[in-house]
Amino acid sequence: MGEPAEPRTVPRPDGWKPALYDRFRTERRQPALDLMALIEAPAHAPRVLDLGCGTGELTRELHERLGAVETLGLDRSPAMLDAARARAGGGLHFAAREIADAIADPALAGRFDVVFSNAALHWLPEHRVLWPALARLLAPAGQLAIQIPAMDDDITHTACEELAHAPDFASALAGTTDRLPILRPEEYAALLFAAGLRPPRVELRVYPHELACREELVTWFRGSLLTTCEARLTPELFHDFLDAWRERVFGVYSDAQPVFLGFRRVLMWARRPT
Ligand SMILES: C[S@@+](CC[C@H](N)C(=O)[O-])C[C@H]1O[C@@H](n2cnc3c(N)ncnc32)[C@H](O)[C@@H]1O
Repeated sequence: MGEPAEPRTVPRPDGWKPALYDRFRTERRQPALDLMALIEAPAHAPRVLDLGCGTGELTRELHERLGAVETLGLDRSPAMLDAARARAGGGLHFAAREIADAIADPALAGRFDVVFSNAALHWLPEHRVLWPALARLLAPAGQLAIQIPAMDDDITHTACEELAHAPDFASALAGTTDRLPILRPEEYAALLFAAGLRPPRVELRVYPHELACREELVTWFRGSLLTTCEARLTPELFHDFLDAWRERVFGVYSDAQPVFLGFRRVLMWARRPT
């Protein structure tokens, strides 16, 4: 027997707070609605998989829009799943699961008419390996619809990675917030094509957000990117971390009011041939 396989993702304590994530509910909903609009009406009531379903609000919406016979939402955050489970019923189920494990599960291969993931897969590494594996979840004529933020080289993200390696924070954070580089849109299109999906439609969109002031940037990213840091640091250290993060980020984002946040996202859709 060989060595046990290395885990594919770094286990992290749960820092997700549904109420904080929903603080920008309208802004965060729009890309998901745009993604749903890319899905073509299925020929029959579909089986749907939502990877990184979060609070399940969008999973419920997707389930109803598609008239799905069964929808499974997966997430690893207990707090997000608590919110999601209140939305279960009528063929909609939620379960606690690592996305990478689900994708590698032979029991799920070829099972789904729609595989959907909104703002979750950027948390996973190795997209060149992950994307072909995602395609294997699809039944014949199945559709894949994915949206990921492409902000990995923005100061909000690079400051987080840099600070995680600073002496004050490294023992708690080093390696946990390292940037997971997002590929170029055409690379995702090529991966989908190589996985046999036709035609791959991939586009980069910039969602323009007006934030009242720069402090809103802190609120925005405390609801997502910074959840890992908050979960791993003491309240005092997280306070210091936020001060240092603020200093770096505010050095780049001007203090004009409103503050413009041009949030880049990649939306992609493709279908497995029959
Ligand atoms: C930004 S939220 C998006 C939630 C939902 N899709 C939405 O659009 O409202 C990202 C979600 O992905 C989940 N997530 C991130 N990495 C994951 C992983 N490796 N396995 C399972 N869930 C993951 C988080 O717990 C979180 O609920």
